[in-house]
Amino acid sequence: FEVFKFDNVESTNILAHDLAKKGHKNFLVLANTQTNGKGRLNRVWVSEEGGLYLSIVLDISNFEKLEHSNFVASLSVLTTLKEFSTNINDFNDLKYSIKWPNDILVNNHKICGILSELNFNENYIVIGIGVNLNNSIYKVNKLNNKNNANNNTNNKNNKNNKSVYNAISLNQLFNTKKYNNDENNMNNNLINKDLFLSRLLSNFNNYLNMNSSELLEVYNNNSETLNKDVKIILNDKEITGKVINIDYNGLYLDTNSELGVILIEVGDCIHLR
Ligand code: BTN
Repeated sequence: FEVFKFDNVESTNILAHDLAKKGHKNFLVLANTQTNGKGRLNRVWVSEEGGLYLSIVLDISNFEKLEHSNFVASLSVLTTLKEFSTNINDFNDLKYSIKWPNDILVNNHKICGILSELNFNENYIVIGIGVNLNNSIYKVNKLNNKNNANNNTNNKNNKNNKSVYNAISLNQLFNTKKYNNDENNMNNNLINKDLFLSRLLSNFNNYLNMNSSELLEVYNNNSETLNKDVKIILNDKEITGKVINIDYNGLYLDTNSELGVILIEVGDCIHLR
């Protein structure tokens, strides 16, 4: 992997496309901050100092595992977060899970978002990953509205909707555990970002080499969405139902209506209970 490292960029995904079009293949773009971080569905990804912002670009001309890439990305972040909590900090009671398609949650708060962008004509995929590590999530949560992708939020007006979670950072989580969030003791740099990145890439590689069925099984074992009642928000409508399966094609929703079971390939998913 060739690595392009920057202090501040507009968006590592945008830069990744530029570099790919110039002929670079299989590389990483890293930035300390982004002025216009992109989230899914045209949302903004608030990208303050301390977070991890990276884009992984893979050449897909001879790539048979394209449909694996989102699963590989989300599982590699999830595994890295677990390693940091358990091996390094001995916090064994945190629950990490994946909200379909690829938000990573810790104790049901969003800690990571992933934006994959495919360019079929030029044979590459950009996998953009944003993880809240040492960044202050204050700003993220203050900007909590539906144009902000860091929050796992779809509808700010729905107060009873459990899926309206605040964002969280790993640093905040560890501070809460270690120091009971006592500001005098808080260490704002608990997470070693370089170590996190190197573990992330190594896990990425492992999951990339995993076979289809095993990868799917690990994904579903860590899914927060499987077997949940959810609301799916599509461009023009909303559908509710129970998620009975998730595979490489998407999510299978039992609508409990004349529609029967339908396949959702893309969309926003809100957990209802
Ligand atoms: C989401 O949850 O909506 C996806 C957020 C993806 C954010 C990352 S940060 C690094 C990369 N560059 C971007 O502009 N976006 C992704």
